Amino acid sequence: MKGIILAGGLGTRLSPLTKVTNKCLLPVYDRPMIYYPIQSMVKSGIEDILLVCGGNAAGEFLRILGNGEEFGLKHLHYTYQKEPKGIADALGLAREWVDDKPVCVMLADNILQNPFENYIKEFESDPIGARIFLSEVEHPEWYGVAEIDDEGKVLSLSEKPQDPKSNLAAIGLYIYDKTVWEYIDRLTPSQRGELEITDVNNYYLQDNKLKACKIDGYWADAGESIEMYMSTNMKVWKSELK
Ligand code: DAU
Repeated sequence: MKGIILAGGLGTRLSPLTKVTNKCLLPVYDRPMIYYPIQSMVKSGIEDILLVCGGNAAGEFLRILGNGEEFGLKHLHYTYQKEPKGIADALGLAREWVDDKPVCVMLADNILQNPFENYIKEFESDPIGARIFLSEVEHPEWYGVAEIDDEGKVLSLSEKPQDPKSNLAAIGLYIYDKTVWEYIDRLTPSQRGELEITDVNNYYLQDNKLKACKIDGYWADAGESIEMYMSTNMKVWKSELK
């Protein structure tokens, strides 16, 4: 399966650290943040990745990552998002490259303890619809939130709700079939002026083609706030990830 990593955006929640550089180039413990999603994908068996860059210092990704050889990648491709119009807008830039095949998408500021090879295999055996992945969090209101029933069926999904229906955050890892491109075409900007990935996932939910799975192990959105950035650094330092 091909992989897409989204590293556009301005990282304003980490300003002033992000005034001259990209959030995903900031260090997390002993390496740039962008290393973690790439290493997660490689460990999960993905050898062909497209990186969507943007924001400040977008060209520095090339300097740090080169052709991806150092990570064991067969191919590392790059594209550029001119303006931070949202996660789904950034994903839309990958359409031609992916074509009709299923795709695994990861947000570049997400750090996962465990690889996800088993989820990719499961999707490849039944390559229809979308998969999202959930992790229990203390502050669901900071994330996309999923409400699920006793069988794990998704009942609702909302982006940063004031009154969350569960403590299950939708992490920045997604697997999609080719309908993702049609859904992106249908999107309109949200209140924060972005094309939201949660709206894409809601289209899959409405069409009864969304499955959710709770992940094991540590997950963090290192770009959520300066506090999360610092606590992620500490967690990685103390964990197996270092
Ligand atoms: O981390 C998980 C959360 O990520 C999910 O729970 C939310 O549902 C999802 O919307 C997202 O929320 P954030 O507010 O944390 O997204 P953020 O704006 O930080 O963007 C995440 C990454 O996506 C960022 O590291 C770079 C990339 N991005 C973002 C934007 C806005 C782009 O490539 N282009 C963009 O225009």
